[in-house]
Amino acid sequence: MVENGCQVLSNVINSQIELHKRYGGVVPELASRCHIEVIDDVIDEALAQANTTLDEIDAIAVTNGPGLVGALLVGVSAAKALAFALKKPLLAVHHIRAHIMANLIAHHTLKPPFVCLVASGGHSHIVLVKSISDFEVVGRTCDDAAGEAYDKVARVLGLGYPGGPLIDTLAKQGNAEAVHFPRVKMPCELDFSFSGVKTAVINYIHKLEQAGISYNKADIAASFQAAVVSVLCEKTMRAAQRYDMKKVALAGGVAANSALRSAFESECAKRGLSFFVPPPQLCTDNAAMVACVGYYAYKAGCFADMTLNAQASLDIG
Ligand code: KG4
Ligand code: ZN
Repeated sequence: MVENGCQVLSNVINSQIELHKRYGGVVPELASRCHIEVIDDVIDEALAQANTTLDEIDAIAVTNGPGLVGALLVGVSAAKALAFALKKPLLAVHHIRAHIMANLIAHHTLKPPFVCLVASGGHSHIVLVKSISDFEVVGRTCDDAAGEAYDKVARVLGLGYPGGPLIDTLAKQGNAEAVHFPRVKMPCELDFSFSGVKTAVINYIHKLEQAGISYNKADIAASFQAAVVSVLCEKTMRAAQRYDMKKVALAGGVAANSALRSAFESECAKRGLSFFVPPPQLCTDNAAMVACVGYYAYKAGCFADMTLNAQASLDIG
């Protein structure tokens, strides 16, 4: 729940990590069932923490995509029911826009234009944020998202789920130069590909295991992370230069990564660019970022109606 777009009154997160852990990744059917079970309690808790009531709310914002359609549908249905019953406006929020706008919650002075790298479990996009409502994707992954690669490598290393934070922690004890994993070149120089580095790490581990050679997990985690971070950072800096952007932002679950944050910080400083990133708890999925975009849609009078539906893929523009 937010006030004036950037003051967070409550931000209740019901983590499903424990539920999906044993499967090594999100099981869509379990995710949507769990959403149904907890959504009423989460709404009650959000109201309680904000010390407010449904009557005092101006509008209901909900993300309708992109993402897992079953889970999205639970949120969309609940939001539509609330908006209808309370006779309040309904606001549809693009999930990736919400990740980007988490930066505005954390940095009240940040204003477009800026370039933002959004790296999450499902997306790796370089986005030009031209205004609060004008976004253009100028680079994207052609296969795996960065977070997906983190999660798969962590699984092969036997670290658990979600892999990103576990690799982040383990990499701190490793040597990032122990193994040189590939940094894939793409024909379109702002696009990404992470399936090559993921496969290279998996093959490297399997070869050693087959030969009965022991290996240092921390070194592999650090070397894999170095390959991913360098590509993410280099391409975003290239985009900033190409589009003459003086401000650079990070968003999405992978933006919680300590190596990525410090690489961006130092590369931006070198180039005289301002750098923005939300605190880690606003990088991973959360309600406040959705409410923030909802606030701007409300101000612009961009209301959704009762035909709103969940969409697995949805254009950012
Ligand atoms: O944005 P998010 O919470 O959900 C999606 O919209 O996908 O991102 C989740 C992804 C997962 O792949 C997770 O492993 C990754 O973000 N992640 C991290 C870190 N924290 C979360 N990746 C690297 N380092 C982290 N510290
Ligand atoms: Zn997300």
